[in-house]
Amino acid sequence: MDSLSFTYELRTKIIFGAGRLADLGQEARPFADRRVLLVTDSGIVAAGIADKAAEALGRVGLESSVFADISANPRDEECCEAAAAALAFRAQAIVGLGGGSALDTAKSAAALVTNGGRVKDWEDPRRLESDPLPVVAVPTTAGTGSEVTWVAVITDQEHHYKMTLLDQRIAPDVAILDPELTLTLPPGITAATGMDALVHAIEAYTCKVANPISDALALRAITLIAGALPVAVKEGGNTAARCDMLLASLLAGLAFGNADVGAVHCMGESLGGLYDTPHGVACAVFLPYVLEFNLEADLAKHASVARALGTGRADMGEAEVARSGVEATRALMAKIGTPKLRELQALSRDDLETMARLSAEHVCSPDNARDIGYEDYLELFTKAYAE
Ligand SMILES: [Fe+2]
Repeated sequence: MDSLSFTYELRTKIIFGAGRLADLGQEARPFADRRVLLVTDSGIVAAGIADKAAEALGRVGLESSVFADISANPRDEECCEAAAAALAFRAQAIVGLGGGSALDTAKSAAALVTNGGRVKDWEDPRRLESDPLPVVAVPTTAGTGSEVTWVAVITDQEHHYKMTLLDQRIAPDVAILDPELTLTLPPGITAATGMDALVHAIEAYTCKVANPISDALALRAITLIAGALPVAVKEGGNTAARCDMLLASLLAGLAFGNADVGAVHCMGESLGGLYDTPHGVACAVFLPYVLEFNLEADLAKHASVARALGTGRADMGEAEVARSGVEATRALMAKIGTPKLRELQALSRDDLETMARLSAEHVCSPDNARDIGYEDYLELFTKAYAE
């Protein structure tokens, strides 16, 4: 370990616990003394959660306005509209309340308010010129980890791909994680977002830029998800399983935020950019194929993934244990009803080639556990689609 060298950075205050949404007002108050914009989605408004957030803000004298006009895969123009809403309301801070889409829109809008332009103008590798408006992030799904990361993924509708806004200053100032907000998530969304968290943890742990802190967080997240995800999907009202899943998605976010994701995300975002496939399920369908491809890059680490998933026996060799992890992900996905790629989207040979090209060009591809290029991606897409 003499050559060990890494940076782990976290600028987000983390608040976790059932009922802690009630703390929103006092947590937002240091950043705003009058007005806050709530960026959320129509489902959260309909569920009455946006009202609860507005009440919590109101209790400390903060006036709020709701912007809920966002898609499942947030778009550049929606971020511009949210920023315009914040400016028109003269918001002093933004609260992102919802799944990854709402949080990424909130983070992007906060950056656009103070930097101008649209997300496309600030796409990675460009960095922001001014500090964004302060952001408090309140996730309502257990998946994205966006409440603690400094990345936002936004669809470029003109060119049909997902672009990345990457700047340490877009990490939320405060994250409030209240498992009660996830109790009514339907099974399909619970499964898809939970798989996103699992992919974050596995990719953070196996990627080329992993570090000891991200490793510890990621392994714990994998273990929690393997135990809690099937329960949360089957019994949505199980508070212990919901608590474990929200904690796991946070730990996975803390892991990949200071490491990276890999080929599963490159493939999932290529599919999502072209077809607007929801992110969690777009990633999940590729996980077993990429895991199998990556095994040889680091058998020991993939064996640890397998053990964290609860598989592998003492009498098995390292390679066999590592391989059993691939089967464990397949079994988990079958249990929670993850669809196959073919069921998600009709694709042509041209689509597979386009997605393989987009994946190879993806900003996260170089950090994948094993070196991977266009031909490999094409083979993986073809395999996944044949099943
Ligand atoms: Fe993800």
